[in-house]
Amino acid sequence: MELNPWGSETIKDYDKLTKEFGIERMPQIGVDNHYFRRGIIFGHREFDKFWADYKAGKKVSILTGIMPSGPMHLGHKMVVDQCAFYQGLGIKTHVLIADIEARTTRGISKEEAERLALEEYLPNWIALGLDPKKADIYAQSNRSIPYYSFYSLLSGRVTFNEMQAVYGDITPGKMTSALVQMGDILHLQLPDYDGPHRVLVPVGADQDPHIRLARGFAEKLGLEKPAATFHRFASGLDGGKMSSSKPASHIALNDSPEVAVKKSVDVLTGGRNTAAEQKKLGGKIDECVVYELYAYHFIQDDKELAEIYRKCTKGEMLCGECKQILKKKVEKFMSDLAKKREKAKKQVEKMELFR
Ligand code: TRP
Ligand code: SF4
Repeated sequence: MELNPWGSETIKDYDKLTKEFGIERMPQIGVDNHYFRRGIIFGHREFDKFWADYKAGKKVSILTGIMPSGPMHLGHKMVVDQCAFYQGLGIKTHVLIADIEARTTRGISKEEAERLALEEYLPNWIALGLDPKKADIYAQSNRSIPYYSFYSLLSGRVTFNEMQAVYGDITPGKMTSALVQMGDILHLQLPDYDGPHRVLVPVGADQDPHIRLARGFAEKLGLEKPAATFHRFASGLDGGKMSSSKPASHIALNDSPEVAVKKSVDVLTGGRNTAAEQKKLGGKIDECVVYELYAYHFIQDDKELAEIYRKCTKGEMLCGECKQILKKKVEKFMSDLAKKREKAKKQVEKMELFR
């Protein structure tokens, strides 16, 4: 099994993943958020310590980055929702635009990364609930000087072999982006920023190599080891991986409500071969992407979700009826989001993120 932050694989076997990489399973510790309650966040590294520090009133912060490459879709929304949740708890929130990574690993120009960040990514982050006034938002290419001198210090504290052991096949561009990401995760603890404290990085499981490397650096440098949570991958609408490069696999946040509703019609279900069979056996809900969309994105209320689960698995509802519900939810969500995004664009215009 391999975890590749630059790869395009999806992961199905989360038990195997946690065992092989020494990721802790996420226990239920009463975090009131649907990603936690529903086990969508399946694993972590020292989240318990982060949470204990937060509960004890100690300084903690969260940091995440999104790389501006391709359209922003529902898969990206998961991290934004989590940031908004922590921000709502009063936790200091740092969001970075990984434009250096986009350049060195995807060949995306500075101009294109800026355009995507300002016109699409940030307006959607804000529309989804991130409060830009209370967040520290920065672009990798435009942070203050100590961040860059720290990044160059890091590059001298690791060997090529160590990088290869964490990432496998690695190119100079990937190496640069990995080290910049180390800078992102660790620089908040420098005296020039907020000093030593526990930083939580909520990410998809493919980012674990970065987390492991960052924790190793923290140990070497006498910093607090960053904590991380890992959420499941969003399935593609067709059941494969949700991918930016395949429009049919995702609902892009900038899709019009009409397009998004059309895409919902084709979402893979767990339907049986015949209606009679489904009434008898119930739907194969574990394989159903419609249900996943409800659980991850469109149904917040646990009772409502449980009712769909019951009707589906008892064969009381067929997929056609179920998809009608999905279409309504998607239509409402997407038109609300579009309205909020237009407002957010005005806020973003006033931000000076790039030079
Ligand atoms: N590598 C992340 C991505 O592909 C983006 C990123 C850059 C990031 N720096 C980070 C994520 C620091 C978390 C923490 O989306
Ligand atoms: Fe999925 Fe709904 Fe069909 Fe059940 S009834 S398999 S939840 S689409």
